[in-house]
Order: sequence, then C-alpha cells, then structure tokens
Amino acid sequence: MDKIICVSLGGSGVTNSSGIDKKSVKKFIKVLERNKKYRFVVVVGGGKPARMYIDSLRHSGLSNQFLDSVGILVTRLNAFAVKEFAPKSLKVYPKIVETLKEAKVARKKSRVVFMGGLHPGITTDGVTALVCEAVGSKLLINLSSEAYVYDRNPTLPGAKRFEKLSYDQLLALARKYGRPQPGLNFIFDITASKIVKKSKIEVRFAGYSPESFAKAITGDHKGTTVR
Ligand code: UTP
Repeated sequence: MDKIICVSLGGSGVTNSSGIDKKSVKKFIKVLERNKKYRFVVVVGGGKPARMYIDSLRHSGLSNQFLDSVGILVTRLNAFAVKEFAPKSLKVYPKIVETLKEAKVARKKSRVVFMGGLHPGITTDGVTALVCEAVGSKLLINLSSEAYVYDRNPTLPGAKRFEKLSYDQLLALARKYGRPQPGLNFIFDITASKIVKKSKIEVRFAGYSPESFAKAITGDHKGTTVR
C-alpha cells in the first residue's frame, strides 16, 4: 500500500472574502497530481467564510457549540467545492467524509479523500491528527499562512521561529497560546498537539504555496518540523 499523507489545508489558502479562491485550489490539486505515488487525506479549513459566519453570530446568546457547528459546516462546504476541481485520474473518494470510520473505508477505496471538520471544540488541525491515527498515517502536513511555529505572536517584535520542535515543545506552545475559541486559533490546536505526540506523527509546517506543499511532501520544505 502506498504511503498515506494527511494534509491540513488551512481555509485561508483556498478561500478569500468572496468565497473559493479557484486559482489557489487548482495549484493545490496540481501538486496532488504530480505526487501520484502517495495517498492523501485532505482536511479543508474554514478560512474567511467560516470566520465571517462565526463573527456575525457571536454575541447573540448562541452557544460556542453552535458557533463551532457553523464552522464545521463551512469547512465541509469548502471541502465540497475543492474536491470538484480534482480530475478523475486522482481517484478521489466521491463524498466528503464526515466521520473517522468513513475515512478508514474511503482511504482503502480511493487515492485522495477530502473532508472538513468533525466535532465542536477542535479545529481542522485536530481533525487531521485524528485522521492520521484512523488511517495509520505517520506524516501530517500543515499548510497555513505561517510556515513556522513561533515562540509568540509572529507580529510581535523579537518573535523567534523554530526550525525544529519536539512534541513536548509544541504542546507547551499550544497550551500557552491555543485556548480553543470558535474561529480564533493558534497555528496548531491543543488536541492536535496531544495526538501527534501520543502517536508519534511527524508534522511539517509549510506555507500555502504549491512549491512549499510539494517540498513538504519530500521533507525539503522551509518551515518547522515537529518530531
Ligand atoms: P478551521 O479549522 O478552519 O479553524 O475551522 P481556524 O484555525 O480558525 O481557521 P483557518 O482555516 O486555519 O484559517 C473553522 C472553525 O470551525 C470550527 C471551529 O470553530 C473553527 O474555528 N470547527 C472546525 C470545529 O468546531 N470542529 C472541527 O472539527 C472543525
């Protein structure tokens, strides 16, 4: 069986304020096409559309669980749209997977599987870590606006970036900065950090560009590696 890689495709990489960023989606799919010797589970994030929905509903007396459920629906909508750009030759699972059980079945039947969120209280990074465990993947690629994990908010003066991190260091940072709040999160959430530590899943952080995604597949990326 070919090696399976789980990708957390940050929503901001494939959406913009008008909806889906078709150009970015097409470039992302091209990288999957050029890497046919791997299988992929791609977990698509919510990006701007999710934030827009969640922000518009915040402070209306609605529960965090409800706001998270709205976020999950948007991630699935994004996944549904992104999947449609993949050609038949990629052997894509025809549905957006909604459970870990379904992910296990889907990965046996297809080369590429798309999904969004799973349950309230986590982010699509947590989902990607859970899916790695479910399908037996030892490599998680995190594509987001930052290719590096920093010791504090990267916009603050003196912020230090890490080339390499241990699982314990990642978890300590997620604990410090990643308190769960619908629509607002640190680069990698606490749940995700705990799971990758427990199951020894290597995490490669890379930017959204197709080049950085392609390089992360081979381990030549410029970004933080956690192992
Ligand atoms: P994302 O995973 O996209 O969160 O899910 P994010 O980190 O805010 O965004 P980007 O895409 O990296 O910019 C969007 C929102 O959906 C809810 C959370 O509220 C999250 O902030 N969500 C998502 C869940 O509650 N559970 C899930 O399994 C996935």
